[in-house]
Amino acid sequence: MQRVGFVGWRGMVGSVLLERMRAEGDFRGFEPVFFTTSNVGGAPPAVGLDAPPLADAGDLAALSGLDVVVSCQGGDYTTATHGPLRARGWRGAWIDAASTLRMRDDAVIILDPVNRDVIDRAVDAGVRDFIGGNCTVSLMLMVMAGPIRAGMVEWISSMTYQAASGAGAKNMQELVRQMQVLGERAGTLATDPATGALALDSNVQETLRSDAYPVREFGVPLAASLIPWIDKAVADGQTREEWKGHVEANKILSLSPEVPIDGLCVRVGSMRCHSQALTIKLRRDVPIPELEAAIRASNEWAKIVPNEPDATRRDLTPVTVAGTLDVKIGRLHAMRMGKDHVAAFTVGDQLLWGAAEPLRRMLKLWLAR
Ligand code: HSE
Repeated sequence: MQRVGFVGWRGMVGSVLLERMRAEGDFRGFEPVFFTTSNVGGAPPAVGLDAPPLADAGDLAALSGLDVVVSCQGGDYTTATHGPLRARGWRGAWIDAASTLRMRDDAVIILDPVNRDVIDRAVDAGVRDFIGGNCTVSLMLMVMAGPIRAGMVEWISSMTYQAASGAGAKNMQELVRQMQVLGERAGTLATDPATGALALDSNVQETLRSDAYPVREFGVPLAASLIPWIDKAVADGQTREEWKGHVEANKILSLSPEVPIDGLCVRVGSMRCHSQALTIKLRRDVPIPELEAAIRASNEWAKIVPNEPDATRRDLTPVTVAGTLDVKIGRLHAMRMGKDHVAAFTVGDQLLWGAAEPLRRMLKLWLAR
């Protein structure tokens, strides 16, 4: 029986992974081993399969005895462990949520609903490193891979609205704490119908600018504001998050020639859904119904929301999409620039298709092969 090691299963992405695996009845037909960086010998999580006490995540000998490692532990762990493990001659499958190995030639970025063919070719060629994509990129491709692969798309500009969860669990907590402090400081100004909007606004601005406002994680207020910068600066004025859009999307779909993808990435006060406003430049005038058909044909999770007010307000929001596997796309319409420019808005849960789900499915694919 194959032995599968899980590292980083207690963190946010790891917890969602285990939750999804339990929900799908995935814990069968293999021997799980749970690793830890802090609690060696502790009790493993209850997954319905017998598992030994927690093993040391830094123990290369223990990791070498596995057929598969699934890591949600983060980039530092990947950097410290993957190379030395391979250097020992380990030939197992490394399935990882971190970005460290993504762009290596000998790694494939996994998003099987849209790139199963790329994954299969990589496996046949001996690739053993399977890396989850950046969440924004994966969520965009879940709805746009169909039109791209049908040759309809010349380029895409994606302006993102990214959730606090993408920055980490502590950031989600800080966002809610920021909201709480705003509410506490506003007191009855937020509820008294006689309050003037300007009085309320100055109270909020004063709170946002006070030295005591909780900004340890984000560095600046997010609640009642936004942050138009994610990750570090790279070349040409882009952030690393923006750079990933083009390079990862083209690698995931193995596109040649490449389809240019670029835009600005912005953090907003959403909890776990990333949204994106897309400008899609088409190679020809594609009627919207034809574009929608290509989106639908790509995979069963891409869901189109009619470009109507009630449907949009009800269905095309982080509130509706959070915790579901649906990736929604709506507001689809030709733009004033010409029928070959189409606007769209998309929303997806960044912890599911954006992080845990491609890993869960890759493990299943690997074990079944
Ligand atoms: N980098 C993403 C973000 C999340 O900051 O929202 C991980 O893919």
